[in-house]
Amino acid sequence: MATGTGSKSLEPTPTPLLTTGSSSTTTIYTSNPNSGFTLRRARFGDLSPAARTCSLAFWDDVLFGRVIHPHRTTYPADVDKYWYRRFVVDWWDWSHVFLVTTETVLVSEDENEGEDQDEKTAKVGPQGPEQHLGARPTHRAKQKEIVTGFAHWSRIAPSWRNNYQAGWGLAWWDPRRLLKPLTSLITRLLGFVSPNRAASTVDEDIIERSYDFLDHVWTGARAESWYLECLAVHPSFQNRGQGRALVAWGLERASKERTSASVIAADGKERFYQNCGFNVGPVARSGEGHGNPLRDVPGGLAFFRDKDGVQIPEREPGTWMAGTGVFDWVEWRKSKM
Ligand SMILES: CC(C)(COP(=O)(O)OP(=O)(O)OC[C@H]1O[C@@H](n2cnc3c(N)ncnc32)[C@H](O)[C@@H]1OP(=O)(O)O)[C@@H](O)C(=O)NCCC(=O)NCCS
Repeated sequence: MATGTGSKSLEPTPTPLLTTGSSSTTTIYTSNPNSGFTLRRARFGDLSPAARTCSLAFWDDVLFGRVIHPHRTTYPADVDKYWYRRFVVDWWDWSHVFLVTTETVLVSEDENEGEDQDEKTAKVGPQGPEQHLGARPTHRAKQKEIVTGFAHWSRIAPSWRNNYQAGWGLAWWDPRRLLKPLTSLITRLLGFVSPNRAASTVDEDIIERSYDFLDHVWTGARAESWYLECLAVHPSFQNRGQGRALVAWGLERASKERTSASVIAADGKERFYQNCGFNVGPVARSGEGHGNPLRDVPGGLAFFRDKDGVQIPEREPGTWMAGTGVFDWVEWRKSKM
């Protein structure tokens, strides 16, 4: 995976608190030494707790929760498969970047044994030693780094060559290019052997079936863009600045590369992204277009932070706006007048 991409405020710094089984050569990014969390590039082993974080964060989300996973209360652990399999495939794409925020918490050694990190992620409390759910005074306790937030960014471009030239791809002859299609095939086969029972048999791939309807968005001056594929903060660790920090990475990256940054917001998260710096849009709705399977799913509005010096006329109000959701279109229209 490409390295050395931290933004100015995310320069690598030594972080003595980290206790996961990391190699000493891993670059660690600290967003703010006093903020209580660390932001760094994910390691492969972080993908499992990251999947758990996404399952929990999107539990009640209309798309990832209710539409795609209607049987999630019966098979709660299966939801992780959905996220994990997605991440594992894109992990082998050198134009994708995975970030985690982590916190160091106290875990009792009794609980620690035989658990993997994602289980601990769900169990520990965010307030530290005194508040730790399982650390009774008689237990030996130790500090542990746990994944509390996750972001998946990808660099959209007209062709792989653009990404390669920008330092985010592999040469055409590099055999590692085979890893992504190979992993994709393996995860598909795994889907037969170990299906995601929490998912709808009809709508598990609803997002993939709607992709073509938004092709018009990433064109012209927006053809190259750092796109936020997924953002989630564990519910117990929200409102501590982690979401904003995970977004800031991509916005700063885009600024440095003089490209745009873009996101499709879940229903109700529009204001969050606008406040984070996606100051243009909505420019599209993920359910727009005749025959789009996402037509009746609320939310899915696309926002941009265009590259410096570029001004693209705002999209005219039209049928593309039609759909349910909490976004205040009346207010939006007023602000355009
Ligand atoms: C959206 C999410 C990632 C935000 O993460 P977070 O760590 O709680 O966010 P932060 O603490 O960095 O919040 C930054 C600011 O956004 C605000 N904010 C958070 N959620 C918001 C929302 N839905 N609408 C408007 N503002 C919001 C916070 O109040 C905070 O404001 P402040 O800086 O003025 O205090 C998190 O709530 C989450 O994981 N939600 C579920 C999954 C999801 O919807 N992901 C986005 C999918 S596109």
